[in-house]
Amino acid sequence: MTNKRVRKAVFPAAGLGTRFLPATKAQPKEMLPIVDKPIIQYGVEEALAAGCDQIIIITGRGKTAIEDHFDVSYELEKMLEERGKLELLSVVRQISDMIHVAYVRQKEAMGLGHAVLMARELVGDEPFAVLLADDVIDAEVPCLKQMMEVHAQTGASVLATQRVSGAAISAYGVLDGFPVRESPFSGRLYEVKNVVEKPKLEDAPSDLAIIGRYILTPAVFDMLERTPLGAGGELQLTDGLRMLLQKEKIYGFQFEGKRHDAGDKLGFLKATVEFALKRAELGPQFRDYLSRLKL
Ligand code: UTP
Repeated sequence: MTNKRVRKAVFPAAGLGTRFLPATKAQPKEMLPIVDKPIIQYGVEEALAAGCDQIIIITGRGKTAIEDHFDVSYELEKMLEERGKLELLSVVRQISDMIHVAYVRQKEAMGLGHAVLMARELVGDEPFAVLLADDVIDAEVPCLKQMMEVHAQTGASVLATQRVSGAAISAYGVLDGFPVRESPFSGRLYEVKNVVEKPKLEDAPSDLAIIGRYILTPAVFDMLERTPLGAGGELQLTDGLRMLLQKEKIYGFQFEGKRHDAGDKLGFLKATVEFALKRAELGPQFRDYLSRLKL
């Protein structure tokens, strides 16, 4: 248990993104844009809004696209300045001014648990956040910020969860737990007893799916070091979490907000439509266009 502030946010972005081929052949899915922002930027903005000030990105192929995105682009900035496009200039500058980013290479896509383990040296002995950027969460209070409050109260690891009905549950890590009564998060907080990776519907211990936001205590690193490779020859984060449960409490938190699975084509399209409709400069025209479609 720990009550240290969570300063570091880890973004595993070294997966193969097979569901989005061929778009992800040469670039990570984290660079796919929703409207005009790569999905990883939504996640980075969420981490900053939750109080993190150090971003650690675990990259695989297509590393340069992510690095360039968060770096200064002198040529582009100079050109925008010369042409008097000051609004665009400030949009571009905001990205590189935003954060301190460190990159770690995961040489082989050996699973989410392995990707998280790559951050061990940079994270050190303090609690940290993990955000899977392809889960884009639209929420009044950023999801990670909601989770920070749970961590501040409990000092424990916190997993974001949401209810998923029917056979779709088999695509997720699923938690087995019981609601914590008498907490300021009444009805939304669960004490986790077990976690199961992608169970068959009949084996799922609940309908509480783990979503791509985690606050983890540093003890998870020792667990991941000792976790044998699991399904598909990958080091599964859920296997490491199951070991951690033998040592520490873990909580599941049903966050408020709408989550889009932007790593999936249909989820990505839905997110694009919803985010575009919310944009002041696009929304009215886009709504008008959609309403005229013969569906
Ligand atoms: P996914 O399970 O979504 O896998 O990874 P994927 O390879 O990215 O995508 P699909 O399913 O083939 O389309 C969950 C998260 O873990 C990261 C991914 O980048 C994604 O953010 N990841 C996964 C790694 O960083 N390394 C890995 O070895 C595996």
